[in-house]
Amino acid sequence: MSHKEKTVLVTGCSSGMGKATALYLAVQGYRVYAASRTPHKLAQYASENFIPLKLDMTDPQSVINTLEPIEKIDVLVNNAGYGLVSTVEEATEEEMYQQFNVNVFGLLRVSKAVIPKMRRQKSGVIINISSFLGKIGLPLLTFYNASKYAVEGITDSLRYELHDFNIRVHSVMPGFFNTDFAKKNLKTNEKTFADDSPYADLVTTLAPVIVDQINHGNDTQEMAEIICRIIEEDTFLARCTAGDKAKKFIPMKQELSDEDFERRVRSYYKL
Ligand SMILES: NC(=O)c1ccc[n+]([C@@H]2O[C@H](COP(=O)([O-])OP(=O)(O)OC[C@H]3O[C@@H](n4cnc5c(N)ncnc54)[C@H](OP(=O)(O)O)[C@@H]3O)[C@@H](O)[C@H]2O)c1
Repeated sequence: MSHKEKTVLVTGCSSGMGKATALYLAVQGYRVYAASRTPHKLAQYASENFIPLKLDMTDPQSVINTLEPIEKIDVLVNNAGYGLVSTVEEATEEEMYQQFNVNVFGLLRVSKAVIPKMRRQKSGVIINISSFLGKIGLPLLTFYNASKYAVEGITDSLRYELHDFNIRVHSVMPGFFNTDFAKKNLKTNEKTFADDSPYADLVTTLAPVIVDQINHGNDTQEMAEIICRIIEEDTFLARCTAGDKAKKFIPMKQELSDEDFERRVRSYYKL
């Protein structure tokens, strides 16, 4: 099948990796549905190959209504996500639920709507954008970590479930990338960031460093190109890293004991 006949759905396209990937794939000749809560931000790029789509992943009926009329989806890039920055004891019920509602249940809702199309056509590629924090824990990011560990688990299970229908399932674990993530999509818990929080020292030590590392992270073009390779190479690895920090920490995590790895991370972040 030539690129021109392949249809790709990318979620979370208003900025960052989603936008870069959707635009890159459209230039490569794919027909791209660029899903976003704010499709007007993408109107300037609209073309035969680039179709902005309004999609609220937290609303099951909206997902069904938006995706049902699209006859054929060959590739799904589950990219949308945000990060809750909170200690465990201070997070609210609503914050905990929303973190999973977007990063995990949202991804599953979109997948549920797309899988029947791929199953009927007996082919497809699902690419879940996880994180290197889907394999590595960090304080203040427990809920985000848990959501991305869940994405890793979903990827592994789905690979078996969809194997017989010729649907490949992959995860990409990016390190830090320079996107809107730190600017707009790190949601902070009020109590954790209050001056009198019992975790104030940890917040002061870690939060500005993480924000700085994201804002000085890798370029999104690297992600766009990796995603394109996953689509085009039938034998691409089920799970891969992208960006400097993931390439540094993921192999270290695999090689060291949990205790030694924790010592390295503590020393690196001065925790
Ligand atoms: N940047 C990093 O350092 C980094 C590292 C590892 C993993 N990641 C992951 O990479 C993916 C893309 O992030 P990015 O870095 O490109 O950041 P970004 O520029 O902030 O883009 C994130 C996108 O996710 C969607 N999103 C955010 N909050 C949402 C919500 N409450 N409901 C529905 N959609 C929501 C937004 O899409 P719309 O506004 O278009 O709806 C937004 O464009 C995320 O899954 C993130 O966890 C990022």
